[in-house]
Amino acid sequence: MQVRLQGQQRLRGEVILPADKSMLHRALILGALSAGETQIMAGHFGDDNRRTLANLQALGASLTEVDGGFAIVGNREMLSAPCEILDCGNSATTMRLLLGVCAGLGIKARFDGDASLRTRSMQSLIDVFAGCGIDIVSQNGCAPLELRGGTFKGGEVVLPHASAQLKSAVLLAALVANEAVQVIEPGESRDHTERMLAMAGVQVEVQRKSNATHICLSKGQKLKKRDWQVPGDFSSASFLLAAALGLPDSEIIVRGVGLNGTRTGFLEILQEYGAEYGIEHWSEGEGEALGDVWVKSSKLNAKQAGDKPTRIGADILGRLLDEVPVLAVLATQAVGVTQFCDLGPLRNKESDRVQETAKLLEAFGARIEIHANRLDVYGPTTLKATQVEVGHDHRLALCAFVLALLAEGESTLNGFESVEVSFPGFRDILKQLEGGSGFEHIHRV
Ligand code: S3P
Repeated sequence: MQVRLQGQQRLRGEVILPADKSMLHRALILGALSAGETQIMAGHFGDDNRRTLANLQALGASLTEVDGGFAIVGNREMLSAPCEILDCGNSATTMRLLLGVCAGLGIKARFDGDASLRTRSMQSLIDVFAGCGIDIVSQNGCAPLELRGGTFKGGEVVLPHASAQLKSAVLLAALVANEAVQVIEPGESRDHTERMLAMAGVQVEVQRKSNATHICLSKGQKLKKRDWQVPGDFSSASFLLAAALGLPDSEIIVRGVGLNGTRTGFLEILQEYGAEYGIEHWSEGEGEALGDVWVKSSKLNAKQAGDKPTRIGADILGRLLDEVPVLAVLATQAVGVTQFCDLGPLRNKESDRVQETAKLLEAFGARIEIHANRLDVYGPTTLKATQVEVGHDHRLALCAFVLALLAEGESTLNGFESVEVSFPGFRDILKQLEGGSGFEHIHRV
């Protein structure tokens, strides 16, 4: 899909976004593992979540789409070896979490994905599960993967790097295998699995010890059936929030969005930039926080006291992992330098996000420098409209959209359909803005 877009228009109004992708993957999996019928209220959901849903059906869970969500009937006894290859599409989360479930249940299965997923390293997953007694055969560390079996044994599992997907795969495997496990994760990553397991009656003990997170799950735990109401996706919200902050005369509010503290590092940077933003109707929920986030056009300042640049590094990276590209876009509008450091983990995402973000920023005339795993962005810059291929990475497609909005003139974005991976119905959702009169600056060609 090609999209033409006039930049420098104001953005106003309120919007409700599709369901949090990470939470919906987990709600579907927990629904399929707990006895009885689970209702999941999730509104819109994208291609990645559709892969988890379809693969759970292939494993034997029964799923029906109902108004505003799903009903899942499942339990661990209903799940068995699938006849077909589990196609995970673009979704690494689907692949890693379902591999954990199958490994724990002793189900042999084959997993594959699209061209992009086939390039992403699964070596850490393979190594960690090999240490737990599970045999996985790969193509040089990438999908297609064949889970050949083995008996999952828990104990102490040290992860080679912080990763919510890896951590969750091990926790789910241990839960269904009825094994005690202590996962030691260097650093921090999103904690939806720990929280949602606790919300479903599974005791998970979490401790921070120096720079590591220790997550303990004891034996003999029972997953209780419960229904889920999945809030809006904070990562999707960050694109609209960034656009409104950088555009003139703009003010938007995103309603009912997930505000789990391991996901909201973006707001910490807004604070540091001196942005005008706030949270209304904040609630702890039943274990996963949510609320409404508003922002106004703001003068952003990347310099801290003493003229040091704003630095985004390992200490906060886990809390804004998927927001680095859009923060780099926003940094082009902030006075001073923003340094994005320790970006190694971004190189194994849907694309090499360090390289691809830099390419995209340069195409719109941003001033940047790359030093190994560090990206320096200088601002403020007047961005120039351009024509770009947005590629297969949904978050970079959304970044291109924000850059095009901030730029002067009309931009053309080719290959924009990848946004459906995490932001289904993007165009219709944008129509909720501008007081409901529609977002008229997008022309589909
Ligand atoms: C996710 C974890 C993150 C994130 C991804 C979704 C999840 O990756 O980048 O988009 O739902 O568990 P890590 O496994 O690197 O933390």
